[in-house]
Amino acid sequence: MYTGILNQYQDLYGFAEDYPVVSLHEGNTPLIPALRLANCLGVEGLKVYLKYEGLNPTGSFKDRGMTYAVSQAKFDGAETVVCASTGNTSAACAAYATRARLKSLVIIPEGKIALGKLSQALMYGASIIEIAGNFDQALNIVRMLGERDKRLAVVNSINPYRILGQQSGAWEICDALGKAPDQFFIPVGNAGNITAYWAGFKKYHDLGKISQLPVMMGYQAEGAAPIVRGHAVEHPETVATAIRIGNPASWQGATDARDQSGGHIDLVTDADILGAYSCLARHEGVFCEPASAASVAGLMKACAEGRVKPHSTVVCILTGNGLKDPDNAVLVGTKEVARVSLPADESAICEYLGV
Ligand code: F0G
Repeated sequence: MYTGILNQYQDLYGFAEDYPVVSLHEGNTPLIPALRLANCLGVEGLKVYLKYEGLNPTGSFKDRGMTYAVSQAKFDGAETVVCASTGNTSAACAAYATRARLKSLVIIPEGKIALGKLSQALMYGASIIEIAGNFDQALNIVRMLGERDKRLAVVNSINPYRILGQQSGAWEICDALGKAPDQFFIPVGNAGNITAYWAGFKKYHDLGKISQLPVMMGYQAEGAAPIVRGHAVEHPETVATAIRIGNPASWQGATDARDQSGGHIDLVTDADILGAYSCLARHEGVFCEPASAASVAGLMKACAEGRVKPHSTVVCILTGNGLKDPDNAVLVGTKEVARVSLPADESAICEYLGV
């Protein structure tokens, strides 16, 4: 039976037999071929795969890091796990804390958390502090709390166990393909995930499990693109609230991944993001949240710029489930499909349909 990434990759993680693994059987997410998308990108022989992280237990990739960070907090005897979040980290933190019988405290920007994520934190029983500020301010507060009180374990991606856990995504991709992809496309917010994937690919390369490393392609939202612009953004803004971040904690990790792999970190507009978001749902049957679609928006841009070679294999990571953000889904979807209100009357329906 599959029992989560820590047990699956225990030989690589190397923790002891009696380690208190806290798991919801995260990971083992599908790598879905995107044939229609590949065909419309104008690059000959291109193979595109979507790593659908929205199928994790709390609906995002954060579960991979949270299983390890919360297990370690339990091991270290912490009472409470705490995080700043744009939503997904808070959902995962609250769920795994409950699983570990620890308390959770989440600090989030008021009014900027997608509805699904907020409902998760509430249902899993976190204590929630909403601040009239953004993610970057929330993270500074959390860092301060962690330093002040050792009973609080910070489970943001500044916690190295988060990064270790998230490496498992790279390993699964290589295990599924039998090699690393030529290029790897990923949204960049606080930049923990691009850092983790690069570390994961390098680890597999060092172990001789893959012979070539992928080129890392990271994408920020235009209004929240500090790495692309080369300076922190004080008031980040984007429809993709998950990556509404102006001063990423793992900035260096992201630029290292880019530079060591010969990759590229660029921005995509909110319109690009929503276009890719809608395209994935309507043409591939894969529903992700807006921030996740930044990877595919990035692939579209990179293809148009000639950055993607013919006959190459690329993977786009879809970091979170579309159900996380029902408000944006209804807004975008309503513009694109036929949706009418009619009386509960057979002839009215027949007349409308012309049958
Ligand atoms: N995609 C989604 C759906 C996310 O929730 C996040 C980050 C990212 C991409 C970016 O990943 O930060 O590792 O570069 N969400 C964090 C949160 C910040 O609080 O849930 P990153």
